[in-house]
Amino acid sequence: MDAGLLTNAGLDAFLAQQARIGLLRFLTCGSVDDGKSTLIGRLLHEAGQILDDQLTALERDSARHGTTGTDVDFALLVDGLEAERTQGITIDVAYRFFATDRRRFMVADTPGHVQYTRNMATGAANAELAVLLVDARNGLLTQTRRHAFLVSMMGIRHVVLAVNKIDLVDFSEARFNEIRAAFEHAVRDLGFAAVTAIPISARFGHNITVPSAQTPWYDGPALLDHLESVDVADPRPRPFRMPVQWVNRADAEFRGYAGTVACGSVRPGDQVTVARSGVAATVARVVTMDGDLEQAGAGDAVTLTLQEQVDISRGDVLAGGVPVPVTDRFDANMVWLSEAPLFQGRGYLLKLGTATVAANITRIRHRIDIDSYEHVPADTLNMNDVAHVTVALGAPLALERYADDKDLGGFVLIDRLTNATVAVGMIDSVSAAAGGVIWQKQEVDKASRAALKGQRPATIWFTGLSGAGKSTIANIVEQKLHALDRHTAMLDGDNVRHGLNRDLGFTEADRIENIRRAAEAAKLMVEAGLIVLVSFISPYRSDRDAARERFEDGEFIEVFVDTPVAECRRRDPKGLYKRADAGQIRNFTGVDAPYEAPETPELRLVTTDASAERLADQVIDALRGRGIIPR
Ligand code: ADX
Repeated sequence: MDAGLLTNAGLDAFLAQQARIGLLRFLTCGSVDDGKSTLIGRLLHEAGQILDDQLTALERDSARHGTTGTDVDFALLVDGLEAERTQGITIDVAYRFFATDRRRFMVADTPGHVQYTRNMATGAANAELAVLLVDARNGLLTQTRRHAFLVSMMGIRHVVLAVNKIDLVDFSEARFNEIRAAFEHAVRDLGFAAVTAIPISARFGHNITVPSAQTPWYDGPALLDHLESVDVADPRPRPFRMPVQWVNRADAEFRGYAGTVACGSVRPGDQVTVARSGVAATVARVVTMDGDLEQAGAGDAVTLTLQEQVDISRGDVLAGGVPVPVTDRFDANMVWLSEAPLFQGRGYLLKLGTATVAANITRIRHRIDIDSYEHVPADTLNMNDVAHVTVALGAPLALERYADDKDLGGFVLIDRLTNATVAVGMIDSVSAAAGGVIWQKQEVDKASRAALKGQRPATIWFTGLSGAGKSTIANIVEQKLHALDRHTAMLDGDNVRHGLNRDLGFTEADRIENIRRAAEAAKLMVEAGLIVLVSFISPYRSDRDAARERFEDGEFIEVFVDTPVAECRRRDPKGLYKRADAGQIRNFTGVDAPYEAPETPELRLVTTDASAERLADQVIDALRGRGIIPR
């Protein structure tokens, strides 16, 4: 482990302890040329208390403030690092600790070069203040606007504009005022609570710890003075919120709900509500390792016991005061971190608070050009892109706007297959209109429709290359089901593309939408009590998995029609491989577009070994084995 580097997950645990001893977490933005390294070095030096590395700091603080001793806290950090590593995200942010008599500081140093967006999004996640550096000779650059935008998006409300190298413009008051005015104009819509401009020279120490004699016209604080005294606490009173991390059943008597208080405070006797179920209860005890508390506040790790017996599990949120909105639809600002682009409609896992649910980016409303702050239409996002998106969840969650609550308003998206973190998001609005669509209760339901037909509805999903034999086999299976008096329906890629999906082509984005609609249509037919045969190439694993998730257990049967591409080419029933090879058709699966074979399909048909008739029998046998049709 590189001692200079720490990751957010580990930091959160560590910082929770530090919250009450006047720690200021800040971020520096600017390029090497602006003098960022010099400034950090200067601050560390003048603060006179450089800690060699963050581990030293941690050990010392653990001993002084830790509740469980050095080892445990250290492990938390290593765990944090481990977690980030398994999530496949490498973060290029160095955290440094230093202290003065008045305050302790943690500074996140985010390299400004490549991947600045992603590094900044990570470094800024914990910070309360940002120091934006500009070179007095150059004034505001595009990157200053970019940094200001990202800082504001990450919820940082306090900004210091450090106008560096003031010595190189002869300590000019006019130049300083010009830069300050330009900056204030540029960021007027970004919602900062305070912008403090300070003329400095990091190299020669002007206005770093003490006011400089060279800038008699400047009557504000020196940088360190400002950092020591600035009040970054959010003045708005916040209601109690605690995401439940786990349910603690220490013994038969004891049942408590463990978590870290996100905001507000809680004491025995308080009324709390379980956000998702709306059930109310009364706090009995606030338990910690060191005994019961009279009251717990933001950052405290506690276990609450309740007077009433209520049903609560991990991912629930306990709330006091104003209820937490519970919804499956919201809008958010999102930074795309992954090298693989985002397409509208693709499914991911979303982690928010202590909950993890399936999620879809249903719509990219617009991409934001972070240099001009302009909104640009987009149907895909690339690494480092920032966008405003609509997210639909597989199940409702308790959540808040990020501006109100970073814990319940910030989320990450995880790729289902690689487990990598592909995006960070900040909830912007809980879309009442969409989230408020109420499911119409139906008296005649799937079970009654199926009962009338005397059958068990299901979706049989055939996937495989073009020419693999999907439609041929599906056709024979349908005839056999028909002969068995089963009620069926057929969705075939080629046919559906003439109607429902005639607006779609073969780009990755269009295929995602093609499969989404096919799955939704199949689901409606299953609701009608039918056995549905779906025959689509459906080349992407994550889209097939998302289709599967729309169905109940045992209702979705994935049949991999496994024909090697060489054999499909040889058959080439529609002459499409020839045309693809000739460059007449682009994005052709197996030629210049990928096919991701299923890893654990319910059934794999090896078409080179048996006739279509025999393969159809294998499908029928599988349906019998799974109780879809009687034996
Ligand atoms: S999918 O990839 O989106 O699932 P779908 O099954 O609907 O594809 O449609 C595939 C059919 O479209 C193929 O059987 C073939 O007849 C036709 N087709 C035309 N262009 C392409 C292409 N570029 N890639 C694959 N199939 C194509």
